[in-house]
Amino acid sequence: MDFKEHLLKYLPSDFVDELLISLEKPRTNSLILNTNKIKEEEFINMFPNIQKNENLYNSYSYDKNIYPFGKSYLFDNGAYYIIDKSSQLTTSFLEVNDNDLILDLCAAPGGKTISLALKYPNANIISNDLSLQRALTLSSNIEKLGLSNVYVINNDFSKIYKNFPETFDSIILDAPCSGSAMFRKSTEMKNDWNYKKVLAFSKIQQELLEIAFFMLKPGGFLVYSTCSFSYEEDDENILNFLKKHKNCKVFALKDDKTFYHTQELKEGIHLFPNLFDGEGQFICYLKKDGNITNNLTKNNPKTTFKSYPINLNYIEENKGIYYGYNLNFNFKNMHLIRKGLLIGEENKGIFKPSFHLAHYLSCTNTISLNEEEFKKYIHGDEISKNLNLKNDYYIVSYKNLNLGFIKYTNGKLKNLYPKGLRH
Ligand SMILES: C[S@@+](CC[C@H](N)C(=O)[O-])C[C@H]1O[C@@H](n2cnc3c(N)ncnc32)[C@H](O)[C@@H]1O
Repeated sequence: MDFKEHLLKYLPSDFVDELLISLEKPRTNSLILNTNKIKEEEFINMFPNIQKNENLYNSYSYDKNIYPFGKSYLFDNGAYYIIDKSSQLTTSFLEVNDNDLILDLCAAPGGKTISLALKYPNANIISNDLSLQRALTLSSNIEKLGLSNVYVINNDFSKIYKNFPETFDSIILDAPCSGSAMFRKSTEMKNDWNYKKVLAFSKIQQELLEIAFFMLKPGGFLVYSTCSFSYEEDDENILNFLKKHKNCKVFALKDDKTFYHTQELKEGIHLFPNLFDGEGQFICYLKKDGNITNNLTKNNPKTTFKSYPINLNYIEENKGIYYGYNLNFNFKNMHLIRKGLLIGEENKGIFKPSFHLAHYLSCTNTISLNEEEFKKYIHGDEISKNLNLKNDYYIVSYKNLNLGFIKYTNGKLKNLYPKGLRH
């Protein structure tokens, strides 16, 4: 079956024609601004031709030819994250409370996690991906954005989900899929598409839905999404799931004339680029019957950290010093990549701050670099600068954005920019 025939199984013929034409057009571009690092007003002044997307949190659309935002020191240092409007819309209907425990089951490279973590800094997000390489990319994105409320793990939940019955307040299941909604992004996806793939992914999605629902608290929300236009991966999966689980209800979201709904599943949202000014996506919110209770407990933090002049709550674990509090969540037997914000490590009484900390803290009291020094720093070179400072670790910044740490010793600034990021 070819792609067009496949779509005609559930969409009107005129509509399919319009959709196929829209897939030949260039993709749209948008980002979410990290206002912990740059104020909206300053950003708009720097880039006056950007357009604010009013219904989304700190979201801006832009023309890539005017502003190549993917190639900028602002991007490299977490001032924003590039994310489709449709991808950001997926989690935008979720109401999150302080201390909620959220699982993002298929999270890399991090669009959904980052949208939630920026909007809800007091929620706790456990962000998982099956692929180690992709989980590491996700972790590095969390680090440069300076987010302190994300725990990155790399696990196959089909092997461990039974340990987490009714554990999470919300679960995001942005499922692996056949990817037809990404044809504008990748011609490879387009050339590789076949119906067998749709059926194979549909099966994987059904398994992931079962796993996710098992781990969801009564009263909690399961956000299901795909980047596929296939009925089998979208409506059909949900309708079959609802038949099997009488304690699961589909939840109607605020409607818009740019959303498409099928007759059978009016609560599901299809974003089609011929209707919606963004990329394709399917979104559906499921709610488990019952009333939610937030039973997350925290260990008491110590208040100020002695080895470095910052006023942060912290806890110690092995040699690591972590910001905030210990989540009462059992990471045992998990592959844990990032446990919230690591402030630094202490070895034989000597404290070394983490790169993540440099991106978390504000840029006051940092050593400001000029353009030449900035280039040297990101290249990994040593910088000489006469400063009247005591020998210690300091953050260096460029145009009010923190870059990382240096170790100041008698006028020499030892470069601590991570080797993997130098360029
Ligand atoms: C659509 S992408 C996720 C995109 C991501 N949510 C975002 O917004 O940036 C699907 C992800 O699922 C991961 N994946 C595939 N099978 C998985 C599984 N069984 N458990 C967890 N992750 C899985 C893939 O490695 C891939 O990164």
